[in-house]
Amino acid sequence: MIDSEVFKKIARKFGTPVYVYEEEKIRSQLYSLRLSITHKPIKIFYAMKANSNPYILDIFKKEKIGIDAVSPGEIALALKIGFLSKDILFTGNNITDDEADFAVEKGILVNIDSIPRLEKFGKKYPNSNISVRINPNIGAGHHDHCITGGPKSKFGIWYSEAEKAKRIAQNYKLKIIGIHQHIGSQILEVNKFLAAMEVLSKVAPDFSNLQFVDFGGGLGVPYGPEEKELMIEELGHRMSDYFGSFCKKYGKALKLVIEPGRYLIAEAGFLLTRVNTVKKNPDGRVFVGVDSGFNHLIRPAMYGSFHPITNISNLNGEEEKVDVVGNLCESGDKFAEGRNIRQARDGDLIVIGVAGAYGYSMSSNYNLRPKPPEVLFKPGGILQLIRERETI
Ligand code: LLP
Repeated sequence: MIDSEVFKKIARKFGTPVYVYEEEKIRSQLYSLRLSITHKPIKIFYAMKANSNPYILDIFKKEKIGIDAVSPGEIALALKIGFLSKDILFTGNNITDDEADFAVEKGILVNIDSIPRLEKFGKKYPNSNISVRINPNIGAGHHDHCITGGPKSKFGIWYSEAEKAKRIAQNYKLKIIGIHQHIGSQILEVNKFLAAMEVLSKVAPDFSNLQFVDFGGGLGVPYGPEEKELMIEELGHRMSDYFGSFCKKYGKALKLVIEPGRYLIAEAGFLLTRVNTVKKNPDGRVFVGVDSGFNHLIRPAMYGSFHPITNISNLNGEEEKVDVVGNLCESGDKFAEGRNIRQARDGDLIVIGVAGAYGYSMSSNYNLRPKPPEVLFKPGGILQLIRERETI
């Protein structure tokens, strides 16, 4: 377990701000997910958009899981790390012809998410295998921006157009070997997953050559003290039962595929920052300024997301209501507003938790500030620098 002494050591050795990941936590999340799903065959594709650090990807490669890739860049990196093309699924959205060509050249299965792309793909690559993404008219997620099913979502072929997709595929002798859906991100209720599974299972019998059904990612984790954990065992068992009886009706033991990102990496990651300014305004408002900003972790500014914040330099101090703010020239550059944390002083170390997913991978050089380094806390307490700090 990473404790405050480890964080202090990391700050001394690598400076701040710095992203820190705990390898054991990554593995334990994967193991609990694997244990919960009893259906066989099962394949897990890691959604590498959540965190694409090569060393993290290497952990997943050693665990023999596959990759959900959304761009040629992700495909190229996954191949470079050593994932086999058969273990990568390309689920692009509004992709270009060149991007489709790139995936096909590399021997990667393309998961097609619109009727026009299906036509174009069929014309260019008749007689090939494909997968299709369906919008099941069910969406869920922690924020409007993260709901990827339903009428407002740009993703997938509308479920009632499955028949049309089938006809187009037949015209070009495309073999639809997989169907896919991903309804959204940070879902904590088991029932939402099951409801979407039901819709996809109604569409699936339209396709007679299926080898797998991919139910996407979206598995949530608790960010705040009030958020309850996703009941992973219940989810795994109910998914397996449901899919098992579907396969019986379908007449074939299809592969159950899921593609979690956040669930595997979010809780394993932390953004470690240092306080450099404590500003107390006459009206009583306190701003705790740290050496990072939404250029490093955009989730609070972009979605209003809650991330736990701990002042590890003053664990027994008095609590104070403060705004924890970054160093960018934007008023929305806040990690928290009106949050009770242990009184922060100049030089204190502040840990922002549950930052492993969509943290570094969504970071930028806004305000021309360099990106932080990334450090892996390995079993036995070994600290490994897995990405250098950028410089100006
Ligand atoms: N599969 C597909 C096709 C996806 O689009 C995504 C995420 C996943 C799998 C993995 O979803 P996860 O298991 O991580 O929820 N930036 C947002 C999350 C956007 C998710 C985009 N798609 C955030 O920080 O909350």
